Amino acid sequence: MIEEPKINRNLALELLRVTEAGALAAAPLQGRGNKAAADARAVEAIRSSLATVDMKGTVVIGEGEKDEAPMLYFGEQLGNGLEPEVDVAVDPIEGTSLTAAGLPGAISVVALAERGTMFTTHVHYMKKLVVGRKARGVIDLEMPVEWNLRRIAKAEGLPVQELTVVVLERERNNEVIAEIRAVGSRIKLISAGDVAGALEAALETRFGIHCMMGSGGATEGVLAACAIKTIGGDMQAKLFFRDEKEREVAVKEGHRPDKVLCLDDLCSGQDIFFAATGITSGELLKGVRYEDVYAYTQSMVLRSASGTMRIVDAYHPIDKLRAKGLLPEQVAIR
Ligand code: FBP
Repeated sequence: MIEEPKINRNLALELLRVTEAGALAAAPLQGRGNKAAADARAVEAIRSSLATVDMKGTVVIGEGEKDEAPMLYFGEQLGNGLEPEVDVAVDPIEGTSLTAAGLPGAISVVALAERGTMFTTHVHYMKKLVVGRKARGVIDLEMPVEWNLRRIAKAEGLPVQELTVVVLERERNNEVIAEIRAVGSRIKLISAGDVAGALEAALETRFGIHCMMGSGGATEGVLAACAIKTIGGDMQAKLFFRDEKEREVAVKEGHRPDKVLCLDDLCSGQDIFFAATGITSGELLKGVRYEDVYAYTQSMVLRSASGTMRIVDAYHPIDKLRAKGLLPEQVAIR
């Protein structure tokens, strides 16, 4: 028998409006080289639209402290204070550098789950391994890259050379990159935006990506896990420490620092809601586009209880956006 969801509203449809607002607020600053200004606009838009959602939300993992950027801080209460009580994971701009440089792949993203179910940490990075449905259950982050790639290839029914692995291009990921090269799989290097990378791997048949490896942000890891619990696929993660101090942070937080975190460790919730809206066009989602009298957005909306994935195209009247301050007068849209 299917258990009735405890939260019987689809909060993800309300989150959709929130990430649309985040993307619409950030988009006018794409390509303008100002990460902080774009972030500040997205944070404000997300904060004020979350304030109208019927929920008692607490930010348990977010950004800002890492970047000292404008932030939705840990512990911040969001929503209008009514039930349900939820954990919030949020990244108003996932890909601030992409937005500032006008590069593809920036999204605005929020996830909710029952209170007390999301992994929370102030450690900045996580090592991640993400695969699609076919390779569910065959991965082990403790095992070598080659061992994992061969098992993923077998599960996918492909020669290992035909696998494509997304990796965030960072010095700390050089070793993983070299190990993947040694096996002969393809690598799609991304300069930022590993939530989208993780979702592309989880939705492997739509994007031709079979896996994501390497380390990226911890917040992004929790956000990805929330989505992957709905869309299928598999993920393991492990906190990645830049120094001893960070390891101590994890211990103080009550974490076993070397534990391999599975999907349920990253989010044990059964009622998970996730929304993401494209800011700049990428493979996962199209970015904000201004067309005559409308601004166009594309979003992904997920609800774990039903397993539904919605891809929502929306057209927002430009005059109303200007009235709401989501499109400043001085920003020319063409
Ligand atoms: P923000 O734009 O939200 O700061 O994150 C972009 C991002 O590329 C994430 O996708 C990734 O997980 C993280 O930064 C990696 O951090 P760093 O750039 O410090 O290696």
